[in-house]
Amino acid sequence: MNVIYNLENETYTKKDLEYIFHSKDNREMTDALFQKAYQIKKENVGTNVYLRALIEFSNVCQKNCNYCGIRADSGAKRYTMKEEDVLSAVDFASKERLGSIVIQSGEVQSETHSKKITELLKKIKSKYPNIGITLSLGEQDEETYRQWFEAGAKRYLLRIETTNKNLFKQIHPQGSDDYEARLTALKALKTAGFHAGTGIMLGLPNQRIEDIVNDIIFMRDFDVDMIGLGPYIPHKDTPMYQYKDIIPPEKDRVIYTLLIIAVMRIIMKDINIAATTALETLDPNGKKKALLAGANIIMPNVTNDDYRNSYSLYEGKTKHPTYKNALLSIEKMAESIGEKIGYDMQGDSNHYIKRGGSRYNI
Ligand code: 5AD
Ligand code: SF4
Repeated sequence: MNVIYNLENETYTKKDLEYIFHSKDNREMTDALFQKAYQIKKENVGTNVYLRALIEFSNVCQKNCNYCGIRADSGAKRYTMKEEDVLSAVDFASKERLGSIVIQSGEVQSETHSKKITELLKKIKSKYPNIGITLSLGEQDEETYRQWFEAGAKRYLLRIETTNKNLFKQIHPQGSDDYEARLTALKALKTAGFHAGTGIMLGLPNQRIEDIVNDIIFMRDFDVDMIGLGPYIPHKDTPMYQYKDIIPPEKDRVIYTLLIIAVMRIIMKDINIAATTALETLDPNGKKKALLAGANIIMPNVTNDDYRNSYSLYEGKTKHPTYKNALLSIEKMAESIGEKIGYDMQGDSNHYIKRGGSRYNI
């Protein structure tokens, strides 16, 4: 099979995609793929790196995902940021000219919680009308999504994690293992008008290349606006830790992540793709490699250290430089590859704009 030919065509069959992932160690192939993806990125979204200030609002979570360090049954010390602390993080982001923020937390489904978020969003919007707001607050019903959208958030990240339903069941305990519910929530947030972001974890126990290929096809067919994906990293305080020796080595989880970024850039062209922290946790040059493979978003963490140390989804995540240093190093890294930071820009997904906003077209 001549994959280079198919690379030129930019359309991949399942077989082509499987070939790409099976050839992860073929440098000639991977370099050609990354170059192609970078070219497409330049033509479709340019070389601005958009920053999203990540605010880890709360690590309270009702769910017990088997892989996650802040699952309900983990020993994590719980916190929810005070409103004034959230506002000061937003203020900081705004002064640093970051065009947008991401508010992330564990999943809580309750009316009190929904209202609290709505009020918080209204406050942020009234003080900082120009800042873009992304939410990553788990599965909610359409009404809640609608409320949050109307209160001023415009983007939502909800990872599908894996589209293999059996694997989805294996990595989630009973009660949280409803793949259909995840799908319903994803559709609902799109219907509510959000720029829809999803993603997966790479290197889960028993995840096959065929699964990754199906994940790619899912993201394409779901017509996502944004993608955030990264390697799975075992956390010792979780049930899945026992499988740490049967997952692919770190370097393979890194290369799978980079390959999927490149493929998604090539097939979807104008979406936003994040270079995630999990990738950087496994590879110090992860962010740069991700940008060179087609990513265009970085999410520097602006959560106050007092809270941040408790937001440990995976091992190694709590080791971090100060925010200022992190920003400087992102700037330097971007410059080293001829890219610029998109200061004061919300950096909307071109894809969302083209698809006409809330139209739901799967
Ligand atoms: N390794 C990598 N990613 C993880 N996430 C949660 N736990 C882990 C882990 N151990 C990711 C999930 C979730 C997002 C908020 O963090 O994909 O959707
Ligand atoms: Fe909760 Fe999200 Fe962690 Fe699952 S992945 S336990 S929903 S914070």
